[in-house]
Amino acid sequence: AGDKLWGGRFVGSTDPILEILNSSIAIDQRLADVDIQASVAYAKALEKASILTKPELEKILSGLEKISEEVSKGVFVLNKSDEDIHTAIERRLKELIGDAAGKLHTGRSRNDQVVTDLKLFMKSSISVVSTHLLQLIKTLVERAAIEIDVILPGYTHLQKAQPIRWSQFFCSCSGPCHAVALTRDSERLGEIKKRVNILPLGSGALAGNPLDIDRELLRSELDFASITLNSMDAISDRDYVVEFLFVATLLMTHLSRLAEDLIIYSTSEFGLVTLSDAFTTGSSLMPQKKNPDSLELIRGKAGRVLGRLVSIITVLKALPSTYNKDLQEDKEAVFDVVDTVTAVLQVATGVISTLQISKENMEKALTPEMLATDLALYLVRKGMPFRQAHTAVGKAVHLAETKGITINNLTLEDLKSISPLFASDVSQVFNVINSVEQYTALGGTAKSSVTTQIEQLRELLKKL
Ligand code: ARG
Repeated sequence: AGDKLWGGRFVGSTDPILEILNSSIAIDQRLADVDIQASVAYAKALEKASILTKPELEKILSGLEKISEEVSKGVFVLNKSDEDIHTAIERRLKELIGDAAGKLHTGRSRNDQVVTDLKLFMKSSISVVSTHLLQLIKTLVERAAIEIDVILPGYTHLQKAQPIRWSQFFCSCSGPCHAVALTRDSERLGEIKKRVNILPLGSGALAGNPLDIDRELLRSELDFASITLNSMDAISDRDYVVEFLFVATLLMTHLSRLAEDLIIYSTSEFGLVTLSDAFTTGSSLMPQKKNPDSLELIRGKAGRVLGRLVSIITVLKALPSTYNKDLQEDKEAVFDVVDTVTAVLQVATGVISTLQISKENMEKALTPEMLATDLALYLVRKGMPFRQAHTAVGKAVHLAETKGITINNLTLEDLKSISPLFASDVSQVFNVINSVEQYTALGGTAKSSVTTQIEQLRELLKKL
């Protein structure tokens, strides 16, 4: 183990199978840029603390710059023996500038180094995710604005319930999904950023930094908002990882529910929407098939992201304080979730902006029994208590069923046999526009209310 950063006290070498299990370079090489960035800041702080001379600092900075160039050109060579990205960069620095490289790690540990790197990575990737999320919300809201006059069946228990505006579905839906829910996810991402934005560097292995290092200098160099309060917590804290994975899981759950709605609506049995060719695929066997793979992948990836959350929270459970190698699992989860969510959000935006709606099929699907509630409200407006009205209309539904007709085709005599309050104006009930226009209270599906929702979402989008 003599070639290792930590090899001094070892006589025997590491078992090859442990080398493989221990190595994280395949995953964490993605942190190369931020690792160099953090090392630049740390070298400056070491110079300020008189650990490095000015010429040594210059040497280290030019070496780090050279490595940074190699990384961006894709020519930075990883050795088999590089345990992780921190080891690889220090090894390369020594090759480039000699023994001065050995001073860079003074007072620093990979424990504070790795969390600093991960936080730097997460700061920028959360911003990327947020941008794609905003794009999706905008797409939903703008489509809702354009198609505000479209009315379709709203479902509960996947059974026809009441007529709703298509825009009501896109803006908020009856369940916790779509644009409004997504704005909550966006707010949550902003919340996590606050906790990611706290500098851990200068916490050492666990006890802190013995060199009177200027952590304020580190903070401003690396553009963190504040500095961690306790060194043991700083290197052990992965709350922000769990929070990110949770928010990503919730976001994916919302997208999965939206996907599920659209998968159902795109079947020929429903026929309410048609996905564009760009977001569907065919079958190698059945020539007629056009499958909603994009939406199925969104739904499936939600399971994958949940798995990442469960894996990390399980790793943390019962872990002793400070750093333990178990924590190395965190990066793979974060990277995978960032990549998955980024791709999924773009696919969702593509699906939503290109899908076609079939107003004809929506109209056909708006069957008269969906207005049974309206018929009960008609009786309520004539003075009948709602419970009685509900029972009366239930009887009308049953009567229509036994006659093999729809409720709008019951004669006035039929209706009068159930309640004398029915009069000739009852025919006005069987009109879906009249139906949706009743729901003017805030949040409802009347045009005025949906318009308010769209306006408020537009305002909210400006602030997110
Ligand atoms: N590769 C390690 C990780 O990802 C870096 C920290 C190693 N620290 C240590 N004391 N072994 O967590």
